[in-house]
Amino acid sequence: MKLSISENSQDNHKAKRALAARIISAYSGVIRLYAFVRFKIIHLRFLEEIEQYLPDDGALLDLGCGFGLFALYMALCKPRARVIGLDINAPRLRIARRAAHRLDIRNVSFEEQDLRNWRPERTIAGAYALDVFHHLPAANGDRLLGDLFTHLTPGGRFLLKDIDTLPRTMLWFTYLLDLVMSPRDDFHYRSAGEWQRQLAASGFAPIYLHYLWDILPYPHILLICDKPA
Ligand SMILES: C[S@@+](CC[C@H](N)C(=O)[O-])C[C@H]1O[C@@H](n2cnc3c(N)ncnc32)[C@H](O)[C@@H]1O
Repeated sequence: MKLSISENSQDNHKAKRALAARIISAYSGVIRLYAFVRFKIIHLRFLEEIEQYLPDDGALLDLGCGFGLFALYMALCKPRARVIGLDINAPRLRIARRAAHRLDIRNVSFEEQDLRNWRPERTIAGAYALDVFHHLPAANGDRLLGDLFTHLTPGGRFLLKDIDTLPRTMLWFTYLLDLVMSPRDDFHYRSAGEWQRQLAASGFAPIYLHYLWDILPYPHILLICDKPA
């Protein structure tokens, strides 16, 4: 029995690897290379974990979706959900839409929005933000957390994947890569404790903090935040 469980999970992992490869192949040129690297940084095991915490139905927001890699991933993993990717960068969104079209993924859409002042207008079943909140000034980020809490359905969930401020060497490594990818942005890093306090102040409870250790030197953290039912 145990053997069959582990085989299943290996099969599942293999299927997810194939899915990631399919998504990467929907991009071309240098973006395909970026997609390959990004899937390495956001390790497939992390994605599988993030995916399992999200609801299977309803509207799922990918906040700061960039080129749409993980919005496509979630849309394929959750065919009954509607994934909506939001980002400020119009060229990235055009590339995301093209990739969705190439893969014929119909349950995903992309909207150009500035999260510093964007306000949700509809009810949300779940939302996630992968390495985005440290791109937002603290006051805007705090306001957005409050709005997300308000618009999540009771029992809904928000997943915040960001980075911790310790160890400092890892923070510096992340900062250098952020500078390469987004040279015009300011960065507003917060410690895991600060994120937990702010999420609690927004109303989320319980909040679980996971450290996601990897061979790459990123101080990854994942906060799993529930809106009480
Ligand atoms: C590090 S990338 C992460 C992209 C994607 N979540 C991923 O994991 O591949 C940060 C993203 O945040 C977006 N971003 C930065 N500031 C933003 C803002 N004010 N509103 C919306 N998106 C923003 C950038 O355009 C970029 O695509």
